[in-house]
Amino acid sequence: MSAAPPVTPSPPKPKSNDTLRPQPSGAGGANGTTADATTAYAESDAHALWAIVSVMLGLLVAILGFFAVMMWFDAHDAKDAANRAAARASSASGSMAGMDMTGAAGAAGALESYAGAAPANADALATAHKPFPAELLPAPAGPVADVNLVLKDVTVEIAPGVKYAAWAWAGGAPGPVIHVRQGQLVKITLTNDGAIPHSVDFHAARIAPDKAFRDVMPGKSVSYTFRANDAGVFMYHCGTKPVLAHIANGMYGAIVVEPKPGVLPKADRDYVLVASEWYLNSDGLKKPAQYNVDKAHARTPDWMTFNGYSGQYVKHPLTAKPGELVRFWVVDAGPSLDTDFHIVGTVFNTAYPFGDMKPEDALHGVQTVTVPAGGGGVFDVKIDDPGLYPFVSHAFAAVDQGQVGLLKVGAVQGTMTH
Ligand code: CU
Ligand code: CU
Repeated sequence: MSAAPPVTPSPPKPKSNDTLRPQPSGAGGANGTTADATTAYAESDAHALWAIVSVMLGLLVAILGFFAVMMWFDAHDAKDAANRAAARASSASGSMAGMDMTGAAGAAGALESYAGAAPANADALATAHKPFPAELLPAPAGPVADVNLVLKDVTVEIAPGVKYAAWAWAGGAPGPVIHVRQGQLVKITLTNDGAIPHSVDFHAARIAPDKAFRDVMPGKSVSYTFRANDAGVFMYHCGTKPVLAHIANGMYGAIVVEPKPGVLPKADRDYVLVASEWYLNSDGLKKPAQYNVDKAHARTPDWMTFNGYSGQYVKHPLTAKPGELVRFWVVDAGPSLDTDFHIVGTVFNTAYPFGDMKPEDALHGVQTVTVPAGGGGVFDVKIDDPGLYPFVSHAFAAVDQGQVGLLKVGAVQGTMTH
């Protein structure tokens, strides 16, 4: 609100002398009488004048008072706006691990970060954790790939000792890695064992989403087929509204559509990584955390993971022999942040950005390639020198929050963090 410039009312017009001059009170009147009458006349005139001035002053006070109130409202609005901006600024920086938030904590809307929360035995828990299998298993033989997916409300562990009440899959989050061959018919059967309606959207499909990706009621199933004509690595996810909440809660996975034989050089190792973010309403150490919509809107995750668990391939590295061709099939499930895929200590021999598998579109000798939220990318690397090679999202806040793993090349000892 902007105030109109204050309007100063015109001061009362001074009466002209004529008005003040007593009128003759009639012919033959005595001077004294005339004088008295004149005085009386003048007094009553003065009373009238004072009355007018009083009314005018009253009006002036009322008008000035009105503008004072308007200006107070204006100032109040400006203060509210400033407070809101401060709250936004503090929530935007709220998830950075180790950042002192005490100054902003008092502002309304500050989002407390649980990044890095860990129990005393976190290291032992990380060692005992069974990592999500990143190795790509062979595609099914024959013309049809049958895929059965079960959605379920499950408590998952997303970092050592950090539990999260997920809407995910029977095996947790991400869902199972699906591997098919280009041209294969994919038959999807989705069963909803969750408490609310869900659905499944395959980015690899060219199909009317209002039919295939429709909501499935709890306890029900849906089936549809699509031909996997587009090669690459694609996201699949629940597409039920609000999609942000369904993805953030763990309802995503990856499908590899392997190009026709002879298109790609044969890889010695194939690994699948699904990157994602987690937005928590508590630290998840004593009881499972749940989804925090404010953090999801602010895009300030507490944890970021490859295959659903912070740093799991640091304790349990992926492996290769020196000189082998290692292929990473990477999907970024988001829900909202990109992954800047990079392997420390080497350069991608070949990158297929966005999962465009045409060899003529590939890049060679590149260091870091963005995998967008909701997209994929394929990366070939050949490492001769034995060692521990971290793979990361080079947006380094993501590394602090868990998006880091190791590729162990050769029979080297130990582990490391980057
Ligand atoms: Cu869902
Ligand atoms: Cu999608």
